[in-house]
Amino acid sequence: MGKKCPDIYEVGPRDGFQNIKDFIPTETKLETVRLLLESGVKRIQLTSFVSPKAIPQLADAREVTKHFVGRYSDVTFGALVPNLYGAKAAYDCGIREIAYVASVSESHNQANINRTHRQSIEELIKIREELPDISIIFGMATSFGCPFEGETPLDKLLAFMEQGVRAGADIIELSDTIGSAYPQQVRDAFRAAKQAFPGTPLGYHSHDTRNMGILNSWIALEEGTSYLQSSIGGLGGCPFAPGASGNCATEDLVYSLNKSGYDTGIDFERLLTCARYVKERVDGCFSGHQINLGAQKL
Ligand code: COA
Ligand code: ZN
Repeated sequence: MGKKCPDIYEVGPRDGFQNIKDFIPTETKLETVRLLLESGVKRIQLTSFVSPKAIPQLADAREVTKHFVGRYSDVTFGALVPNLYGAKAAYDCGIREIAYVASVSESHNQANINRTHRQSIEELIKIREELPDISIIFGMATSFGCPFEGETPLDKLLAFMEQGVRAGADIIELSDTIGSAYPQQVRDAFRAAKQAFPGTPLGYHSHDTRNMGILNSWIALEEGTSYLQSSIGGLGGCPFAPGASGNCATEDLVYSLNKSGYDTGIDFERLLTCARYVKERVDGCFSGHQINLGAQKL
């Protein structure tokens, strides 16, 4: 038995794919998820239930979700939602863990979901009321920095977090939407959040834009995050955040953890096979390192 590890929460099928221009055939999406499952991943964000006008790539959300939900009792399948409409659609497809996204910066909240903070919180209250048995992750985009407003002040992060917790969120996700977070900032944010809301589990969503994805993920691990979100191959990025690029690559993160004695439950070679499968079929920017190496015996 290795050291206890936070869940590796794969977001490639959502964050990784959402920014890809050419439509990825549903069959390719299904096979990607199947390969992730085969490698041992136990928590996967399958898709988004958002407006297909905002994110055309994920217009097949229902089909993808229905294919997997209910077939794997030990796997948590999640989805991102921006509103009650999306939460209900996800619920109807069998999803029981949603990431309800709202941005700490008002300007990114407007650009991304066309809502004020107040509207976002009112919507969260409605979701809580209408779907009492769904687990709600409050996905706090721009927790560390915003493409329009710069670095996010910690007190602003905590104030919005408090609104989310009061509105009924079960889990708080600190999301580094534009990959601007740095280690001390991640540590400070986790410590402050733990102190303010000791009963609420925290999650971490990384981007590797400035080559700090793994380092920051390790800080989040040290500070007790319940999961680490990353994306197969290092694909990823928000279409409504200029300059945003790939998530931390899941296979790179898993390599660092497995080699260091953490019990991720994930087979690195199989994960790499999945990353290669995606790279051969999807025209995107793969920021992972392992995937860009030739064959090496290590
Ligand atoms: N799923 C599918 N369709 C949805 C939807 C959802 N969750 N929410 C709204 N819609 C549809 C409405 O039915 C309406 O359709 P119509 O034009 O055919 O009548 C249309 O979208 C506009 O609805 P409205 O409530 O006025 O939304 P909006 O135009 O203010 O857009 C969002 C708000 C949230 C729906 C949209 O900005 C969105 O989907 N954003 C997602 C962004 C995202 O995923 N970013 C990356 C992840 S962080
Ligand atoms: Zn992201």
